[in-house]
Amino acid sequence: MKFSLSKYIWFDGKLIPLDKAKIPVTTHAIHYGTSIFEGIRAYWNSKNLYVFRLNDHVKRFRNSGKFYNITLNFSDRQIEKAVIDLCKKNKIKKSCYIRPFYFVGQYGINLHVTKKAPTHTAIFSFPFGDLFNKNGISATISKWRKFSDLSTPTQAKMGGNYLNSILATQDAKQRGFDEAILLDQSGNVSEAPGENLFLVKNNMLVTPPLSSSALDGITRKSIITLAKDMKLKIKVRKVSKKELRLADEIFLSGTAAEITPIIRIDKKKIGSGKVGNMTKLFMDTYSNIVMNKNENYSNWLTAVY
Ligand SMILES: Cc1ncc(COP(=O)(O)O)c(C=O)c1O
Repeated sequence: MKFSLSKYIWFDGKLIPLDKAKIPVTTHAIHYGTSIFEGIRAYWNSKNLYVFRLNDHVKRFRNSGKFYNITLNFSDRQIEKAVIDLCKKNKIKKSCYIRPFYFVGQYGINLHVTKKAPTHTAIFSFPFGDLFNKNGISATISKWRKFSDLSTPTQAKMGGNYLNSILATQDAKQRGFDEAILLDQSGNVSEAPGENLFLVKNNMLVTPPLSSSALDGITRKSIITLAKDMKLKIKVRKVSKKELRLADEIFLSGTAAEITPIIRIDKKKIGSGKVGNMTKLFMDTYSNIVMNKNENYSNWLTAVY
């Protein structure tokens, strides 16, 4: 993955050169994973740079911290402005990934994190193309189960939560697959390490519910809205492991992965083993929307310039 960071970073309210953004090694978040992050994409369509669903990302950003009483010191409006200012200051004229995060700073070894624990907020960005091969990827059902709300809140995009995703990704890659699919605690399909999952069977689109420990993904929500608007059949319901193998099409959705077809799971080809029609429809519709070529959804975009 290409990772050339932009020159300026937004740090606690100021735009500063990247090499000036430093934190002590005693930072609480490094020891305990007390950090919250978002992943946002902005798309350059040769005229302007558009941030996709900025407002929804910022809302989830704040909410993630609430599960742990970790305070975000800036208003939603300030964070939205910071994202735009960061793009402007770095003169970004390429599609990019934007990573806002906040974390507990100097708080000793105290596990009693309260709203008063000091936090820092930062945002950086880097140019970003496709995360996965858009002609389709392979996946394996992970031996690691997705954690449930009985352990840690599944709806918090929290640094520590991603250890589960890291284990599942390591296992999939070591066994030669592009991506992992995690089952929930009851053995139903949950999601991928950083993406939601959709399957298509007999023209019906199906995605697991949040009660299967799936993140309330912003791309997932966009797909559900689009499906309803296009009068397609869609159901949010529990999905068994067996249904994956019998699906006509499967795709992943997420900010980084956008819409990525899965064409093989373990040794089994999915459908024809090629990108399916419904998947293609969503890939095309999504890329038109993010490039501001579909005015029905232009309210999902925030122009930078
Ligand atoms: C665990 C997990 N599931 C799903 C997603 C997809 O969410 P979104 O579409 O909001 O990027 C992400 C990415 O944020 C994620 O980390």
